[in-house]
Parts: sequence; C-alpha cells; structure tokens
Amino acid sequence: MENVHAVFNGTFDNLENIKISPLSRAYTFSDSVYEVIPFHNAKGIAFDRHIKRLQKSCNSLSILANIDLISKEIIELINKSKFKDGYVYYQVSRGVDQIRSHMFNADISTETFGYVVEHTFEAQSLKVMLCEDVRWQRCDIKSTSLLGNIMSMNNAKNSGCDEVIMHKDRVITEGGASNVFFASNDCVYTPNLSKNILPGITRELLIEKIKASGINVQEGSFKIDDLTDAKSIWLTSSTKGLAQVIEITNQETNIVVDHPLFLECEKIFKNNFLS
Ligand code: PDD
Repeated sequence: MENVHAVFNGTFDNLENIKISPLSRAYTFSDSVYEVIPFHNAKGIAFDRHIKRLQKSCNSLSILANIDLISKEIIELINKSKFKDGYVYYQVSRGVDQIRSHMFNADISTETFGYVVEHTFEAQSLKVMLCEDVRWQRCDIKSTSLLGNIMSMNNAKNSGCDEVIMHKDRVITEGGASNVFFASNDCVYTPNLSKNILPGITRELLIEKIKASGINVQEGSFKIDDLTDAKSIWLTSSTKGLAQVIEITNQETNIVVDHPLFLECEKIFKNNFLS
C-alpha cells in the first residue's frame, strides 16, 4: 500500500508505517470513537457537524480530545492527499494501558489516528435483509464497538445482501452503517433520534434540505410492517449518500424503483452537497 496519507498522534506518515501498541484500549476494549468525514472537490461536506459529533462522542465516554488540533489534522489529510473526492476516517482512542484493565487510569493520554481514502459518490442500488437489532443501548455514540453491526451485516452478506435494516421488537432502528428513510403517500418517513440510532449527518442534512423544498417529512416510530406499503426505501450515510433499496429479501414490499420522490430527494441532496 503506497502513499496512503495518515496521521498518528499528530505525526503524518504513510499508513503502512504506523504501529500501535497491543495495549491500546482501542485494541483490547474498542474504547474509542470515530468519524467518517466525506469531502467533495477537496472540501469537507458538513465538516463542522462531523467535528461537533466527534466532540460529543468523546464527551459521552469522557475521552479527552483536542478538537481544534484534530480539525486541522483532518483538513491537512484532505489537502495532502490531493484527492478530489473521498473521506477521512478519524479515530480517537482513550490511550494505552500499562496493563489491561477495564477501569482506566485517569492519566492515560488520548491516542489519535486518521487516514484518507479516495472515494467517488456513485448511485447504489441495495439488496437488504431485515434483522433484529442486537446492539447495545447507546447506539447514539459513534463508538468503534460495532460487533452487533458486524455480525448482522456479514450474515446478510452471506445471503447475498448489501446491507441490513435493523429493528427492535419490529420497530425500525437503522441500517448496519446507515440511517433509514422510506416514502409513501407523498411523505418521507424516518425513525426519530433516540439512543437506539446514530444521529447521522447525512440524515440531518437531507431532512433540512428536503423540508426546505416543501417535501413533507415525518420523524417517528415506525414498524417494519410500514415498509411493506412503502413505495420507496433508501439508506443514507457519509459514504453512500442516498442509496436506494431495491429489494428486501425477507419481507414483501411494493417498492417502485426510481420512485419520483426518491429521485427528487436525491437531486436535492446532490445539488446541495455534491455539485
Ligand atoms: N457509518 N448509522 C450507523 C450505524 C452508521 O455507521 C452510519 C455511518 C450512519 C450514517 O451516519 P452519517 O450520515 O453521519 O455517515 C448511521 C459510517 C459511514 C461508517 O461507519 O463507515
């Protein structure tokens, strides 16, 4: 792997040169949080909102972070890469233990790591599987502890699917790495924010922009049965943008591929963030 621009504890280097301690709590406990910050034409998309969410994730776990320095490093990663479109993965970990211990030492120093990836934002059509949400009860924190997501998404992959839509007792939560939207009767629906879902930045931007253009959006508690009547279902994330669901393999649907309301929302999103 050549020239993958990365930064570790403030030092820029190629990704392959970075070495971490096996006693990093990111390694032993997943005691770390992260962000995926997309950029277009070398400019961060909703950069400040990603930085704010990273600060919030750190605060939720009492991980100390120098957020101004982190912002500068992310911008430098984008600039150094010379990629037009892509994203920065940035992780803030609690630090390295002297000896593995659940209860951390207060003097531990935060460990930071970021790298930049070239990525083009292309339209995607997804085959998804519904599955029970088996995750913990603080999915609003963007933590690297993602075993529930990983189990469900790889199970779906083994059945030929690209993503999952998770539910808790039939109430829709979110995708494995995305938020869920669906449309029927000229209205767009999406699960309301709670501790069971990540407050997605793409979700937030899309809601703001489509509301401003006069489209009716309702945030609420929706059941997987509501997906049967939906004319269009799509997933949002910083790397997917808006990705249309074309099939749910374990539930009947009445999806109309390229439904006008989906195309309208996609157009509004692209015009605002990807033009
Ligand atoms: N994930 N929900 C989950 C569980 C996610 O992992 C993500 C994004 C989202 C969408 O959030 P946003 O619009 O801010 O990207 C919702 C990133 C892309 C990832 O883990 O790679």
